[in-house]
Amino acid sequence: MDQIHITGGQPLQGTIPISGAKNAALPLMAASLLSKDSLTLTNVPDLADIDTMVELLENHGVTITSMPINDLGLELTLTANGQLDKTAPYDIVRKMRASVLVLGPLLARLGEAIVSMPGGCAIGTRPIDLHLSALVQMGAQIELKEGYVHASAPDGLHGATIRFPFVSVGATENLLMAASLAKGTTILENAAREPEITDLAECLVAMGADIHGIGTESLVIQGVDTLHSTDHRVIPDRIEAGTYAVAAAITGGSLDLLGVRSDHLGAVIESLTKAGANVANGGDTLTVSHPTGHCRGFDVISQPYPGFPTDMQAQFMALMATADGASLITETIFENRFMHVPELTRMSADITVHGGSAMVRGHRALKGAEVMATDLRASVCLVLAALAAEGDTIINRVYHLDRGYERLEDKLRAVGAKIERVSV
Ligand code: EPZ
Repeated sequence: MDQIHITGGQPLQGTIPISGAKNAALPLMAASLLSKDSLTLTNVPDLADIDTMVELLENHGVTITSMPINDLGLELTLTANGQLDKTAPYDIVRKMRASVLVLGPLLARLGEAIVSMPGGCAIGTRPIDLHLSALVQMGAQIELKEGYVHASAPDGLHGATIRFPFVSVGATENLLMAASLAKGTTILENAAREPEITDLAECLVAMGADIHGIGTESLVIQGVDTLHSTDHRVIPDRIEAGTYAVAAAITGGSLDLLGVRSDHLGAVIESLTKAGANVANGGDTLTVSHPTGHCRGFDVISQPYPGFPTDMQAQFMALMATADGASLITETIFENRFMHVPELTRMSADITVHGGSAMVRGHRALKGAEVMATDLRASVCLVLAALAAEGDTIINRVYHLDRGYERLEDKLRAVGAKIERVSV
């Protein structure tokens, strides 16, 4: 088990290159199952979750070559042209919930799939009922047996008008991929609009899919018989960029974030500005600074894109813990996404949770302590708090971080952080 040791108090100064988006790369990799031709993805982040998706797809029979690009990211070429295995086994799926994204492509390509139920995680029960009910509307037969989803569409999937009762990123992605090869027209209403979905849709179109309404809450997909090869560059990771933007603000430093898509960061930039940070947008570079590291308190509510992202809620809570004034942070997407609160409290933060809201009473000094990471974004929230805290912090269970942040220690050390990883 690794720990991360941080000595806080250093204003961060310099440049941080932003990696490709984990939450775009994962569905893009699953899309390789839709064609017998090769799919080449560049700007893939080198992360534990990517390794797990490689392991899963290879288990299905996808041939994958992986090549590092300079000192950041990977180029993957994925080819599903052999005998494909329809089963996604529990021992892989349990490591990463996004494994469920192979369900739609397998069903569309093979007419059947046996996929382990992903199970919950620290932030919630994470059901997949929207995925399953939508696939049934497209003609799939679904049976849940011994922890597995047994799905079949012996006559192939057919188009349908599907109205999601609430926004789901994963369900939108699964159904977008399934509909690409279905017979007829599928309309996805109340579809998620995250940039990662737009990236997936644009890649599918490049592979020959017929999709309209990209970027809107209503996607219209005309199924085609086959999809073909393409090369696709993964979009930059807006959550990684937002995380390092908070690092600049919370330490009273100034960081240039390189290779970002500022148009994906509207709500985050708006919130940082409201908090009193200085944000300058220079094309694909975002410069974020704050003179003291003590922002103004303000309220945020997590919402589906283009609202404030739930994946930035924990990071902003760290920023608000050192702000001048109080902040109300409301989490509307996941039912248990405040696991970072008791750990921040160990660092002297003053936070009270009432149901889905947390009242953060900011004050000048967090204190270093030994803390425990519980999930990906909670882990990085503790890193941010430690960078601003007085004294030393030890963060345990940092394997959570390795799932979503490429070379985090290197990137932070390069801009002045006193941070090191220790194996214990
Ligand atoms: C994706 O998860 C992201 N993961 C999450 O990022 C992100 O927090 C989430 O979208 C919301 O933006 C990936 O892209 C790999 P949802 P996903 O389906 O697709 C409920 C991170 O930190 N729901 O939009 O699982 C669900 O429980 C991760 O990078 C159902 O009830 O999220 C949640 O409360 C964490 N039934 C809400 O909807 C369903 O069938 C939104 O979930 C599906 C979802």
